[in-house]
Amino acid sequence: SFHGRTLGALSITGQPKYRRDFEPLLPGIKFLPHNDVAALEQAFSERTAGSVIEWIQGEGGIFPVSNEYGRKARELADRYNALLVFDEIQCGVGRPGTWFGYQLAALVVLPDVMVAAKPLACGLPLGVIVANEKAAAAIGAGMHGSTFGGSALACRVALEFFDILETLLPSIRRVGDYFRGRLEELARKYAFLREVRGRGLMIGLDMSVPGKQMVLDAQAQGLLINCTHDTVLRFLPPYIVTEKEVDAAIKILDGVFAAQPSQ
Ligand SMILES: Cc1ncc(COP(=O)(O)O)c(C=O)c1O
Repeated sequence: SFHGRTLGALSITGQPKYRRDFEPLLPGIKFLPHNDVAALEQAFSERTAGSVIEWIQGEGGIFPVSNEYGRKARELADRYNALLVFDEIQCGVGRPGTWFGYQLAALVVLPDVMVAAKPLACGLPLGVIVANEKAAAAIGAGMHGSTFGGSALACRVALEFFDILETLLPSIRRVGDYFRGRLEELARKYAFLREVRGRGLMIGLDMSVPGKQMVLDAQAQGLLINCTHDTVLRFLPPYIVTEKEVDAAIKILDGVFAAQPSQ
């Protein structure tokens, strides 16, 4: 999991490489194996304040949460009067082809609190905390704020973006499916490509070899990609990307993969 680099967010981030230099962090946090419903059930008690879930883990390597896990998290939060929080900062706001990642589930589970950010104001800094009445009752006016919070310009841009996002969703889904299909073709060609994961334009290519040099090789040819967890190439293209541009990216990736020493 990854939730950010401020004290609270880092405390609930599971990756040692981010935590290491800032410990000790907040106590009382439990990290659970991904999609392990039994572990989730065991972790809850009367003392549980809440659970935080990325519907598709981003930094964690593009791992979607199962519907069963999400539903169990809701059920346990209700049973123990805890908050269910969805971190939609990377997987939300159109990225997976729906407004938010949790809407991908066959049986939708609603959070008590949701955070969203990245594409919200098209690159201008803006993040939001959305809460239902129960959770919102804990925060009064003036209790949460920051110098640049609520910027009128960023909020205006976000409102404009919301007007067009709905029209972008079909092509995010279509081009995303096309992109994953083309990556699967490559996965059949190169044995070190293990799995293509993700939804919409949030795509991970899981490999059995490190991806750091591949990122640099692709970059040298004009393709900007990223690598998480050492061996997962991550693709988060702009929402307006076309099939033709995906083809250009696949051509570059094919060349990068063909040049691997393991070939
Ligand atoms: C899922 C998730 N949560 C939280 C964050 C942190 O956002 P920020 O760096 O704006 O605090 C990120 C950033 O990558 C993220 O991917």
